[in-house]
Amino acid sequence: MSTTASDLGAPAAAPVKVPPGFFLETVLSVHHWTDRLFSFTCTRDPTFRFGAGQFAMIGLMVDGKPLVRAYSMVSPPWEEHLEFLSIKVQHGPLTSRLQHIRPGDGVLIGRKATGTLMPENLLPGGVLWLFATGTGLAPFMSLIRDPETYDRFDRIVLVHTVRQANELAYRGLISEELFGHELLGELVREKLTYVPSVTREAFHTSARITTMIETGSLTADLGLPPLSPERDRAMLCGSEAMNADVRALLEARGFVEGSNSEPGSYVVEKAFVTK
Ligand code: A2P
Repeated sequence: MSTTASDLGAPAAAPVKVPPGFFLETVLSVHHWTDRLFSFTCTRDPTFRFGAGQFAMIGLMVDGKPLVRAYSMVSPPWEEHLEFLSIKVQHGPLTSRLQHIRPGDGVLIGRKATGTLMPENLLPGGVLWLFATGTGLAPFMSLIRDPETYDRFDRIVLVHTVRQANELAYRGLISEELFGHELLGELVREKLTYVPSVTREAFHTSARITTMIETGSLTADLGLPPLSPERDRAMLCGSEAMNADVRALLEARGFVEGSNSEPGSYVVEKAFVTK
């Protein structure tokens, strides 16, 4: 009697044809933070290069075609694997599928990384403010684990605002592991401040980033002088509304947007995936 694939409980898998411009990587682990938020790690092609703060197109083959969205790398450039943070949207074309990935599954990673949240797009300055809401934290997770970020700034303040405390992804990693990290710990202890804030349930800090800037509590609570384009630099990554509102507050204080061609006092990128 011959054995067929269906006898083995699974249809014979057709070999996946990798579309041009992508690597096919293997999922290594998946972590579900909440019913709205998950992260995963996957293998990394040794030729895939990126800078901390950049993003790539990530996704799955659906009906024989790549279905991809922009995702910032959470993992630092020196790490062997890649890590991504994503929302889950029940009827979202990509995230409704991506949220079900498991170790061993294939995932598409675009070969070209890009983005504006890079320290070289900022003029030299004293304090680097990293303002994130929700999954906008992702690129900053890479930046705060890249020693180069610490070379460029005297101090780095990461402000992460979410609705509920369980959405403070990587909170333990940032506030504990990183401070005790074998190689980065000293830099982190000397220069990094983590300011988590939660807006829709009781928490020690409960203000939106915009409110903290407007009232001045952002700087005052850390014993720092008011935000100034002479000394401070900012990176923004969150919803369109948050980016627009923080941008307006910074520009009112004289901050100028930087880019690859001309560094400035702040840079902005949206937390891309909303579906
Ligand atoms: P809030 O709870 O007051 O709306 P979301 O999940 O909607 O992207 O929100 C993530 C976090 O960003 C929430 O804490 C939310 O605060 C905050 N937020 C939303 N819009 C803005 C904005 N325009 N400026 C500053 N913070 C914002």
